[in-house]
Amino acid sequence: MGNDVSHQLEAESLSYPRFAAVYNWMMEQALVRRMFDPLRREIVGQAHGVVLEVGAGGGQNFPFYDPTRVQRVEAVEPDVAMLVAAERSQGDAAVPIRLSRAPVEALPFPDAQFDSVVATLVFCSVHDPEGGLSEIWRVLKPGGSLLFLEHVRAQGKIVAWVQDALVPLTTRCMGNCHWNRATERMVLETGFQITQVRQLSGGLQPMLLIQATRPAMLLGLSRERREAF
Ligand SMILES: C[S@@+](CC[C@H](N)C(=O)[O-])C[C@H]1O[C@@H](n2cnc3c(N)ncnc32)[C@H](O)[C@@H]1O
Repeated sequence: MGNDVSHQLEAESLSYPRFAAVYNWMMEQALVRRMFDPLRREIVGQAHGVVLEVGAGGGQNFPFYDPTRVQRVEAVEPDVAMLVAAERSQGDAAVPIRLSRAPVEALPFPDAQFDSVVATLVFCSVHDPEGGLSEIWRVLKPGGSLLFLEHVRAQGKIVAWVQDALVPLTTRCMGNCHWNRATERMVLETGFQITQVRQLSGGLQPMLLIQATRPAMLLGLSRERREAF
């Protein structure tokens, strides 16, 4: 199991109660829901079998799990303030959901447990995104699905430069949020095979819907990942 002590200690100190309150309030507003609900339905609706959701926040995705496809969901979230809100959202789900406090970098699950892993708007704020992706790789079954909705680094140089310049502010005021992360590249470098990617242009916050798999065979993996086996 991934039980790296430094990541567990980090998770214990991770708490942004003010950000959690503002974020969860904002996510309930009609305008914001009109924008995000279809994206959540699109990405979360693909989850199947036994599902892991990382960085579950206030449980914003819980209503979108399809009970005809999903057996149960293990949802992890390191921030206590978010966990309290997520507990309140458990009743909105049509599938069984169990919540635990954990960061994605140290998942309290054995290897190859999950059919699908869901993360929405999470990898911008994870302390060690490469470590988190390696943990997802570990707990996902070969052939399992990775389902991401993330805002990412802009492709245009000028916009990316502005994102870089804003990061000291966004990390401080928005729960460690980095507006400049090349998440798609990190997914590929971990060894996942991207099966579909949809880009939503969004000025300073372009978003990607990524569907990927942990390949069942090791062919095509990066040298580092093959050597890890
Ligand atoms: C912007 S919120 C998104 C919440 C929710 N997933 C959603 O779609 O609305 C980012 C979430 O990632 C969580 N997070 C931050 N660092 C994390 C880590 N290392 N592991 C897992 N989750 C993390 C935060 O606590 C927060 O709940």
